Formats: sequence, structure tokens, C-alpha cells
Amino acid sequence: MIGKICGTGSCVPVEVWDNQKLAGMVETSDEWIRERTGVDRRHIAGGEETTAYLASQAAINALENAGMKPEEVELIIAATISPDQIMPSTSCEIQKHIGAVNATCFDLNAACTGFLFALNTAQAYLGQGVYKTALIVGAETLSNLTNWQDRSTCILFGDGAGAAVLRAEDEGIFAQVTHSDGEKGGVLTCTSRNRIAYEKCAAAPETYMQMDGKEVFKFAVSKVPEAIDELLEKTQLDVQQIDYFLLHQANERIVRSVAKRLKQSMEKFPINMEEYGNTSSASIPILLDNLNRSGALKSGEKIILSGFGAGLSYGASLIEWKK
Ligand code: UT7
Repeated sequence: MIGKICGTGSCVPVEVWDNQKLAGMVETSDEWIRERTGVDRRHIAGGEETTAYLASQAAINALENAGMKPEEVELIIAATISPDQIMPSTSCEIQKHIGAVNATCFDLNAACTGFLFALNTAQAYLGQGVYKTALIVGAETLSNLTNWQDRSTCILFGDGAGAAVLRAEDEGIFAQVTHSDGEKGGVLTCTSRNRIAYEKCAAAPETYMQMDGKEVFKFAVSKVPEAIDELLEKTQLDVQQIDYFLLHQANERIVRSVAKRLKQSMEKFPINMEEYGNTSSASIPILLDNLNRSGALKSGEKIILSGFGAGLSYGASLIEWKK
């Protein structure tokens, strides 16, 4: 048995901050941000747009797309590094919002690799016949963890959520490669913060995301092609047989570098970070949903999804599009 993706959905906040707005907040420019990252705009959560709200809307859209009722969902895994609270979990919040009364729910933290690891975890459950249906969600309100005075990070990130519904089927393709390297964890960090306590005391910079951008960049451009090569070796596929590579949308230069290393055309590497920035665990499912809804994906196409980020963690998974 394997889990087939039978529906996708996404939801992003209404408010959009363009590069010009950030140029009014820190010493940067639209030109620098576009050239160095590929980001033009990002959606920023406000008011009622919590992580759980964005996640639930993405989940509702994915269920509609799959033609599935919430009661049919047996497993919900939410990947997030920016939950609204420590407990209850974001996945239980999603369950409550959408009425998935029969689901077992838990969250998973693998930062920007979170959606990929949620997909792999759901596949393990469906593959063993433990559950027949799963809803996986990547959702973030990174704007709460962004230091808006730090130009080296604030230009990159955005808020949003993406979701996919999986149904167990007798046949299909799925394979995965995953890695973690805790020794290098210090290059991308964010110390836990009790929000209410925090609001009462002075700003503590370690409770916002801190990144050694150059080190993370070097890690991504070397490890992502390695993971993809390992996956191709494992599945005995040639790189030419892959129709699309959906990479975590961290930086357009990273995607271009990976395409070059694999000697593949950029047409196989769709990007959308110009609109959303880096939405961590939400970036791959938002991209997948954009492609699904635009009709770009054809049945039988082989797609490699690859995530990388804090931990450090990274991996690549192969799916066959059959929706
Ligand atoms: O999702 C998790 C994974 N995260 C990532 O994959 C992020 C990976 N890293 C990156 O995407 C890039 O390293 C950044 C976009 C964060 C930075 O780009 P960079 O080309 O590595 O820039 P840099 O840090 O080497 O800085 C180059 C210059 C520096 O000035 P000097 O020392 O050369 O005078 C920086 O101070 O650019 C300066 N700089 C900026 N200038 C204008 C850094 N940030 C900015 C800015 N605007 N926002």
C-alpha cells in the first residue's frame, strides 16, 4: 500500500508586504532582495490569521479538492515551527476547526523539512495499513518569529499554509531519503519564548530566528543534490525521468544551483518564492497546490520533493502524480 495524493489546498494571509515596504524598515533595497533571494513580496498574518486558522483553511481546501469529507480523515499531521501555543497541538486545532472527528492528530517539527517528513510519516502509516486516509499540513506564521530589525533574515520569510490529502492505494510509487545533522544546528536557531512573559519583558534577540545565511546556503546547495542523487540511485531512476523537482522555496539562487548541479532545465524547477517568500514547512505544499490548481501536473508524472532547513535536516521524496 502507498498513500496517493488526492487533493491539495493552501491559504495565505490577505496582507502583502512588498520589498519597498521592507526598504522603509531596514537598510535594504528592492533590487538587493530580488537579486539575492528572488523574493518580491510576502504575505503577513494579521488579526485572526493564526497558524491554526491558515492551516485549517488550507486543510478545508485540500479536502474539497479531494472530494473527501472531514469525517473520513483518520490521521492529521501538522508540521510547524510557529504554533500559536505549546498545547493543544496545531493538528488538534485543525481537527476541531474542520470537524475531522475520527482523526488521530499530532504535530511534527522539522522546520523547513517539516512537510516532507510529515509526508514520509503519513506514508509509513498508510503503507502499514494503520490508517487509510491522512491529511498533512505545513503551516507557519513566521512573522511572529522574525526580527524586523534584522535585514539578513527579515527579507526572506513569509506566512502561509499548504495541505495535502492522502488515500491508501494498492499500487503506486513512493520512495524517500532523509537525513539530519544536529551537530550543525547552531547555524539556524530560535529560542523558545513564552509569548505573554516575553511581551512583559525587554526584547530578547535569541527568541527570533537567527541565521548564518552563508552556511545555510552552502549546506543547501551541496546536500539537496546529494539527497536527490541518493533517491535516484535507490529507485534506479535516471534524472531525465523526473518531470518536476519541487524544492523548498528558500532562495531562487539555491534552486538554480541545484538545477545546474543536476544538469536539468529550470523548467523542471517551478518557483513561487517571488510571491510568498520562504514559508518554511508551508513552502512545498503551497507550491504543489499552485501547480495542481493551474493544471500543470499530469497523471503519471514523477515528482521529487526536497526540503532542507533547521536541525539541520534535509531529504527528498519521490511521488507519482495520479490525481
Ligand atoms: O529555510 C531555511 C533555509 N534558509 C536558507 O536557505 C537561507 C540561505 N541563505 C541565503 O539565502 C542567503 O545567504 C541570504 C539571502 C540570507 C544572504 O545572501 P548572501 O548573498 O549570502 O549575502 P551575505 O550574507 O553574504 O551578505 C552580502 C552583503 C553583506 O555586505 P558586505 O559585508 O559585503 O558589505 C551584507 O551586509 O550584503 C549585505 N546584506 C544586505 N544588503 C542589503 C545582507 N542582507 C542585506 C539586505 N539588504 N537585506
